[in-house]
Amino acid sequence: MARILITSALPYINGIKHLGNLAGSMLPADVYARFQRARGHETLYICATDEHGTPAELAAAAAGQDVQTYCAEQHVLQYEVGVKFGLSWDWFGRSSSPQNHRLTQHFAQVLEERGLIEERVDQMVYSIDDKRFLPDRYIEGTCPHCGFEKARGDQCDNCGNLLDPTDLINPYSVISGSRNLEVRDTRHLYLLQTKMADRIRAWVDSHTDWPLLAKSIAYKHLDEGLIDRGITRDLSWGVPVTQGEFPRPGFEDKVFYVWFDAPIEYIAATQEWAESQPDRDWKSWWRTDEGADDVRYVQFMGKDNVAFHTVSFPATILGSEEPWKSVDMLKAFNWLNWYGGKFSTSNKRGVFMDAALEILPPDLWRWYLTSNAPESSDTAFTWEQFASAVNRDLADVLGNFVNRILKFTESKFDGVIPEGGAPGPLEEKLFADVSARLADLAEQMDAIEVRKSAQALRALWVVGNEYLQEAAPWTAIKTDRDRAAVIVRTALNLAALYARISAPFIPFAAEKIAEAFSQAYPGAWPTTDAAAELSTLPVGLSVRAPEVLFKKIEDEQIAEWTERFGGAE
Ligand code: MF3
Ligand code: ZN
Repeated sequence: MARILITSALPYINGIKHLGNLAGSMLPADVYARFQRARGHETLYICATDEHGTPAELAAAAAGQDVQTYCAEQHVLQYEVGVKFGLSWDWFGRSSSPQNHRLTQHFAQVLEERGLIEERVDQMVYSIDDKRFLPDRYIEGTCPHCGFEKARGDQCDNCGNLLDPTDLINPYSVISGSRNLEVRDTRHLYLLQTKMADRIRAWVDSHTDWPLLAKSIAYKHLDEGLIDRGITRDLSWGVPVTQGEFPRPGFEDKVFYVWFDAPIEYIAATQEWAESQPDRDWKSWWRTDEGADDVRYVQFMGKDNVAFHTVSFPATILGSEEPWKSVDMLKAFNWLNWYGGKFSTSNKRGVFMDAALEILPPDLWRWYLTSNAPESSDTAFTWEQFASAVNRDLADVLGNFVNRILKFTESKFDGVIPEGGAPGPLEEKLFADVSARLADLAEQMDAIEVRKSAQALRALWVVGNEYLQEAAPWTAIKTDRDRAAVIVRTALNLAALYARISAPFIPFAAEKIAEAFSQAYPGAWPTTDAAAELSTLPVGLSVRAPEVLFKKIEDEQIAEWTERFGGAE
């Protein structure tokens, strides 16, 4: 059975992430990890904070902290809020770890030996007032491609094009706002991606099963022609260029570019994981010469990250000519927007992970964000849609079913799974229906079709309600106790089955349901043999209704949150 390696794009260290970040990488990765574990696959879900580069330095400066202290604090905050959201990371590392320093320097060394690194004299923007170079996000200006006026030195957020600071029209310093800038010479290392274009294209070609979004972005960049990329920066915070394995005179004050070291942290974080406990081995996950051939590696990310994962990181991996595991399946997401516009960290626009949990339990957010995942196009968060997902799907369908059958069992069968009777035509029909729908659900989950998986799951919840409505145990009990017993037993089994198949999406509620039946949590993923799966609970078992599973969202709450978080504009 294949082992499953999962990574989600590493969140920048600069503060708690908003729901858009969560929806497009960490949450779907978690749903997939929980599913694969339940199916019995050995699974490793790795994430980390992306701590280097200008986002970290700028955020630390804004917080009035030195960058080390800032990163250490923010790492803990992001870890804690992630755990509260139920993100089941096997490891949540830090790209500033010693492991990542070593591995980043190793890759640079090897790439140099392969003739893929070249020292070049660069013209970089220097701020006379700030007395420093302005790489990447330290500089903003107008995008030469689309005219967006707040394009950053590394990328335009409006059109997605990767930029160099010198590309910007009318640039200014983000530190001081100064336009007193000049171009100066500075030495940097370049990764010769032009030499690798054919190899990278062949590698992309070989992944015929990647989703369209990932492939189209990869080919757009390949077709435009790869350029050699500067992989060092005039900054002090980062992986030093001249340390350790990789001495290089003249580079004492320079560090590797954040986008060079960050994806390497996927591997280094696995080393952190392995070193944190005895008997763990990272190589069997990442080295094909050390047993990683049976690993299926799946990456999750937003669309702005795809170029880095289909071109830049593969250039590092393939260029090394060492037997590293590369990604098998790349799942990319569009944007979750906040009403008509974007979530924005800098403008505090939208709901952030910590605030979300202040007002409602994690499962409600998890369900909305997966059942409305921005897969085939960008989607917009609205409170109305959110309330509808919670009230209609969770409260009216799943919560109602579980509660109703358990309450009925308590009042008519002393809270004990009854014996007697045998399945009839209604049950046969239910078994057939559930079998087919379980197969559909597993297929969508395997294909990482997040929305379709949520739909398939909801359809299974609906089937239970319809069955109960049609079988009407409350009528049967008046004349035929055995018939009522069959219905109750079947419906109770169905509720317990829901705990197992809902756990990847709504783990906290699933655990409560499993507890109501004294079932192990998280349970194993069911087979598609519904007749067998729906007769597993022992007759005579005491069951009890959990306290309310999902509280409905009221109009007054929506009004209050619209006021607090904005929206509608
Ligand atoms: N921090 C980046 C972002 O949020 C993602 C980094 S992914 C990795 O856009 F490849 F660097 F790991
Ligand atoms: Zn642009």
